[in-house]
Amino acid sequence: MTVLEAPPTDHSPRVASANIEDFVVPSGREEEWRFAPVAELGMFMHPDDAAGSMVAQATAHVAMVDAADAEPTAWLPTDRTSAVARAGVRSVVTVRVADDEVVDEPIVVTLAGSASTNYAHLDVRVGRHSRATVVIVHDAGVDVSGSIVTHVGDGADLTMLSIIDGPAERVHLWQWHTDVGRDAHFVGSVVTLGGRVVRILPSVSYQGPGGSAELLGAFLADGPQYLEHRIFVDHAQPHCASNVVFKGALSGAGAHTVWIGDVLVRREATGTDTYEMNRNLLLDDGPRADSVPNLELETGDVASAGHASATGPVRRRAAVLPPVPRHHRAGGAAAGGARILRRCPGPHPVARLASTRARSHRESARDGGSRRRPRRRRDRDDGVTGFLPVCRVGDIAPNSAKRYIVDGTAMAIVRAGDGVFAINDRCSHADVSLAEGEVDGCAIECWLHGSAFDLRTGTPLSLPAIEPVPIYSVRVLGDGDDALIEVDPSPIPAIVAAPGQ
Ligand code: FES
Repeated sequence: MTVLEAPPTDHSPRVASANIEDFVVPSGREEEWRFAPVAELGMFMHPDDAAGSMVAQATAHVAMVDAADAEPTAWLPTDRTSAVARAGVRSVVTVRVADDEVVDEPIVVTLAGSASTNYAHLDVRVGRHSRATVVIVHDAGVDVSGSIVTHVGDGADLTMLSIIDGPAERVHLWQWHTDVGRDAHFVGSVVTLGGRVVRILPSVSYQGPGGSAELLGAFLADGPQYLEHRIFVDHAQPHCASNVVFKGALSGAGAHTVWIGDVLVRREATGTDTYEMNRNLLLDDGPRADSVPNLELETGDVASAGHASATGPVRRRAAVLPPVPRHHRAGGAAAGGARILRRCPGPHPVARLASTRARSHRESARDGGSRRRPRRRRDRDDGVTGFLPVCRVGDIAPNSAKRYIVDGTAMAIVRAGDGVFAINDRCSHADVSLAEGEVDGCAIECWLHGSAFDLRTGTPLSLPAIEPVPIYSVRVLGDGDDALIEVDPSPIPAIVAAPGQ
């Protein structure tokens, strides 16, 4: 038995062992099992001689090896189910790429179960300065508990993709550990679509300075699926990088996802660059998403470190695709093509603006001219071009935004708390409408990659955007929902906040 240093969320020592009896049978009260439906995992808590082993077809880089003859690995299971699987698996799937070898075609490993309940062990090793892509396609028709142990040699570049798709009936439990060599680059992606209970535990450690790892995940959960991704990145080498991005969508009663992102930067890991993010989109009121990012720094001498997590409902406007491709330059769906979501009938923003103006004029006429008439002023000498009427306060729901064209410029007009703000509608990271983002306090968050922008300055508050977005002067004439919002279309000069402000 090996006792590992604790990951950030677990302050009791973590056990790593090949001995099953070093792990208690979880009750569900343990930190690492507290979300999981442990009662449904009984078949993997105890050795079962009737369990099969996952197999894969041998190719130029893939082989099946008897477990007794397999090359030893330094990796040890860190929970009961993986210890049971490691002890019980009879065949090991190996993937080998030699030193300096460049494999242009993806190495596809299609796993197949030999029984309804299976153990699995995959041993993936790519040599020094090699380059390869490995795709693991899981057998969705069987229950499986297993491990993937990956070694990326010094200077190597490995991309791996793991796909679990199929009926939402089966159990898939995986530990996936990767050692990243000196100056090596690893991308590990998981796509989780199928399975009744899926629990994937990716972990990364570094074997030398300069390594980088990206852990990417996409998951879709329908009720009653339970999908858990529990990540641990262990920075113990200097000048290494990690980037963790997991995004998912959930729908239906009983759908439950769990994302735990533990990143530990040890004292010796100076110059670390790390970021982790999880986003969960709730498509209706039925599902539940738990998201826990944990970043523990034992040294302040890092290049950068951050994390973010957000879970929220899909907003009506964000759920609606435009009648033309949203990202035509990126090859979006053709206009009129099949879509999951469609734009609700409603006027174009320009038409809304016209109707707002028409309504304003109608109301003014009805009131005998007593209502303030929106009027453009270009005669000011204070540097302000002139305010233009845009809409009424009541046209925008509290803490939300709408897109308007003001003097030829697309703007997001935002109600945030008691304030009204105008910010250019184009995200500075890509051509995406900020009006479709979420308003959070005094910031608006781009829906595509999650950069938030300060509505008072236009400054990006989070990556990936690094450039500010123009903002505009706003004034509100009147009170209540009927108050008129006017905007000066001349951008306010960029405000640069001093450090600490
Ligand atoms: S498009 Fe806005 S953050 Fe990427």
